[in-house]
Amino acid sequence: MRFSAACERNQLAILDVLRAWLPAAARVLEVGSGSGQHAVHMTRHLAGLHWQPSDLPPLHDLDERLQLEGRSGLAEGAVIAQALELDVTRPEQWPCGPFDAVFTANTCHIMPAAAVPELLAGAARVLAPRGLLLLYGPFRDGDAHTAPSNAAFDAHLRAIDPAMGVRDARELQAQARAPGLELRADTPMPANNRLLVYVRAN
Ligand SMILES: C[S@@+](CC[C@H](N)C(=O)[O-])C[C@H]1O[C@@H](n2cnc3c(N)ncnc32)[C@H](O)[C@@H]1O
Repeated sequence: MRFSAACERNQLAILDVLRAWLPAAARVLEVGSGSGQHAVHMTRHLAGLHWQPSDLPPLHDLDERLQLEGRSGLAEGAVIAQALELDVTRPEQWPCGPFDAVFTANTCHIMPAAAVPELLAGAARVLAPRGLLLLYGPFRDGDAHTAPSNAAFDAHLRAIDPAMGVRDARELQAQARAPGLELRADTPMPANNRLLVYVRAN
């Protein structure tokens, strides 16, 4: 089964931010769920949470974790839905919603740069009014990286594929305005990551 050590390290810090921002019994769409560890962790700790995982196909690793770990031991009333195939660049694959939040971790630097505005637009479409888009990962500010390790990671990604790379938080903020998302918080997270919180303005 796919396993992410980074997920294991960052999930407590992410849970604190979700706890602070999500309404009670929130309906959350996760984009790029990967191993499914965040789906399991968050639903074990937040009562009433309805978590919709999704990712590019194939989904068998994700399905396997959800089958093994996502059917018991969840917080009261919490549910993990069957994972969906979702490529953010394919509008027809986005579920209808409405969701109280769209959460995604460590995806913006992996998907091609051109897909990021589609992530923002898709999230805005499926969010309820005042719904939240929560983006976790490393981000830079213009050309300035927040740590040498992020600069090295960015160079590493671009060497593998020039379409990947650590995204500029300022550029994201500008891109997010078109679909009506406003930045509400930029929370520093462990290991030089950040959690950007956007709200659907209307
Ligand atoms: C580094 S993994 C992160 C997985 C997980 N969120 C985590 O934090 O461990 C990047 C994820 O982004 C997903 N991804 C890449 N391009 C995507 C796209 N166009 N639409 C949706 N997900 C995408 C990948 O399938 C992968 O699961």
